[in-house]
Amino acid sequence: MMRSVPVNAPSGQYEVKIGSGILSLLGQAVAERTKAKKCMVVCGENVSPLYAPTVLQSLRDAGLEADKIVFPAGEETKCLQRYGELLNALADLRLTRSDCVIALGGGVTGDLAGFAAATYQRGIAYVQVPTTLLAAVDSSVGGKTAIDLPAGKNQAGAFYQPSLVLCDTDTLSTLPQRELRAGYAEVIKYGVLGDAGLFQKLEKQSISLPEIIETCVRCKAEIVAEDEYDTGRRRLLNLGHTFGHAVESRSHFTLLHGEAVAIGMGMICRAAVKKKYLSKEDCERITALLEKTGLPTESPYGPDELYETLLLDKKFSGGKLHLIVPCSIGKCDIVPVTPEELREWLEMSYE
Ligand code: NAD
Ligand code: GLY
Repeated sequence: MMRSVPVNAPSGQYEVKIGSGILSLLGQAVAERTKAKKCMVVCGENVSPLYAPTVLQSLRDAGLEADKIVFPAGEETKCLQRYGELLNALADLRLTRSDCVIALGGGVTGDLAGFAAATYQRGIAYVQVPTTLLAAVDSSVGGKTAIDLPAGKNQAGAFYQPSLVLCDTDTLSTLPQRELRAGYAEVIKYGVLGDAGLFQKLEKQSISLPEIIETCVRCKAEIVAEDEYDTGRRRLLNLGHTFGHAVESRSHFTLLHGEAVAIGMGMICRAAVKKKYLSKEDCERITALLEKTGLPTESPYGPDELYETLLLDKKFSGGKLHLIVPCSIGKCDIVPVTPEELREWLEMSYE
């Protein structure tokens, strides 16, 4: 069974296809949705031996010329040097403006390949083929692409929508358990920010992985259609990310992104109870679900250690940052805060 979710972003419409065993259908789908004659498959060293052969074969079977470039696994690959190498590889392959980049992997590959596609010859088509849960439910959808700079994460990037997202759920079977758990932090995030039904099903463990992915993608697609450029409602997707990014950065990336987001959600929920936005019962249900999933909810670092990093958050603009505060399961508020108010929220996020 193949699930299909339309994404109607103002700058581009596309489908997210979700299903078991659909990787070999990629070539046909690329041929139908793009004008490509040549494709460059971008992947990481762990993903390449597992899934690149099927992807390359599928593209060639559909009459496309296909090559691949493999990068080391890990966040360090989202850097200027690898970005430059990728642009040069696209040029060496003589990709033209009608050709296509295929991002095969997790969020690191998707962000790097997407940014290269956005900027090579002022923009060529790209297709996201997510192979992590985090990429399937979040990073492959919505068109945020980026690399990191020495000054910080995602400091250079573009909003640039893919032509297609194809998620073969079978690929998640080879994902290390820790990475899978980290992806669940983003799944739980969708339940808290907008879908109480999803949250309940997760509590009862009465939902399959393909249904989880479809539900999260529908939620993200709806938000992106309304606010593609992250000036309003899309900010809700940052639930758990303000404190989470500070914790992730302070851990020097020894904590995975999803683990840090889980901590960030635990922190903002505790502060929201003290500030009377959220009931104690809902806070306990959220932290209980995160913990049952095997995720941390408390910061290993104190407020003084995190505050400096928080002040560097790139989402501070005009002296304010938008904090995403849960009001109940399925509903969050967007609360603009000054640095001083942020410090107060931070202090309150500890038991
Ligand atoms: P990742 O891309 O680093 O992948 C995690 C690890 O799993 C890597 O070691 C990778 O090699 C391995 N892997 C991937 N798929 C596999 C598979 N099927 N089997 C075995 N191993 C596999 O991490 P991630 O969590 O997918 O993504 C994190 C990145 O996503 C961060 O850079 C973050 O900034 C970015 N992100 C972007 C957005 C967005 O909207 N663009 C949203 C959220 C996160
Ligand atoms: N991952 C946050 C967003 O896409 O806006």
